[in-house]
Order: sequence, then structure tokens, then C-alpha cells
Amino acid sequence: MKYIIAPSILSADFGNLQRDIEMINNSEADWFHVDVMDGVFVPNISFGFPVMAAVKKHATKPLDVHLMIVEPDKYISDFAKAGADRITVHYEACTHLHRSIQLIKASGCKAGVALNPHTPVTLLQDVIEDLDLVLIMSVNPGFGGQAFIHNTYKKIQDLKALIKGINDDLIIEVDGGVGLQNIATLVSAGANAFVAGNAIFATESPTATIAKMKQLTHN
Ligand code: DX5
Ligand code: ZN
Repeated sequence: MKYIIAPSILSADFGNLQRDIEMINNSEADWFHVDVMDGVFVPNISFGFPVMAAVKKHATKPLDVHLMIVEPDKYISDFAKAGADRITVHYEACTHLHRSIQLIKASGCKAGVALNPHTPVTLLQDVIEDLDLVLIMSVNPGFGGQAFIHNTYKKIQDLKALIKGINDDLIIEVDGGVGLQNIATLVSAGANAFVAGNAIFATESPTATIAKMKQLTHN
């Protein structure tokens, strides 16, 4: 099993973005996690296409784009053109989720759906075969540095049960409050991709922290 570490550039130093991107390029991280917030779906605004273009220009690893925006269908092809490899939309933001998933695939990207902490995994039952990834939010989306919600472990197990024999290759990604203290337990629960912002960028050596996180997925 390959485990993915996806540093969230939301926690990077935007005044030194190229430096932080190169740090991730030269680390054991697998993807860049790109958090797009619109101030409507979540109570925060992060960044949009110009910043994403800057990331794409320097990044040597895939861009995992997490859209915390309403009406994501309007922008899916633009995010694909801006260099996204994976696009994840929120279940709670999509009235026609099946259509949104097909739009992502038609744009040439891998398709993901994110679930807020209150949204049960069973609601994905009828689209689960179409998905490459499910992103389980382990905080309420909007900000980095929040406390991990414990019920996430149960949700990962529920999702594991839901995909069994149907979509065993699905990536189960966890986002929010993930770090050295809980990554091994998340692996045991069944997750295989890990987003981390604060836990990486607020440490003295982000590269060493990424290496330690990777190491903990192997144990
Ligand atoms: C939260 C974002 C996360 C966030 C994670 O709304 O989706 O990706 O940046 O940050 P940490 O790891 O600091 O909780
Ligand atoms: Zn995210």
C-alpha cells in the first residue's frame, strides 16, 4: 500500500511561496494540497487562479485541489487548465454531484468528493464507483490549525466497509488536524492519504516532519 503525504500550502509562507514549494519538491511529500476557499461555502477566503498558477510553475509533484466553494461546476475546467491533477468538490456544495464528478473526469482530472464532519459516508453510496478519492474532513473546513475531530476514525472505517469489493482502489484522504500524533492511528483505521498544514509548516524542519510522517505510515 502506498501512503500519500500532501502538505497544504495554505500554511505556507506566501511571501516565500517559491521557497516553500521547493521545500516540498525536495521532501518525501507526494502531492501539493491546494485549498481554495470562497468566503461563501466556508467562512474564509484563501486564494484563486493566480496563486495556483504560481504553485504550478514551480511544483514538481501533482496538485491535489480541494475546492471549498459553492457552484464548483463553473470552475472545474479552469482548475484543470490551471494544472490540477485531482479535483475534490464538497458533497455539501453540489446539488448535482454525479454531474460534478463527470465534469471533473471530462476535464482530465481524477475526481474526489469531500465530506464535512457531519456528513455520513453512506450518502456517497450511489457514486462511490465513479470516484478516485474521498476526502474526509477531520475539522470543519475553513482554517488551518484546528483540532482533529475524533469521530473521523469511525468514518474512515465506515468508508472502508462501503468501498469493499466495489472500489478497493479508492484513496481515503484525511484533512484537518493531522500530524505525527495521529497519523499511525489513521493508517490503522484505513486512511491512505494525509493532508497536513500546521503540523508541517509550524515545525522547525518541515522536511524532517514530512519524513517522520512518511516513516509513521510504514510502521
Ligand atoms: C481546512 C483545509 C485544510 C487545512 C489543513 O479547511 O481544508 O487542508 O489547511 O490544515 P491543518 O493541517 O493545519 O489542520
Ligand atoms: Zn484541504
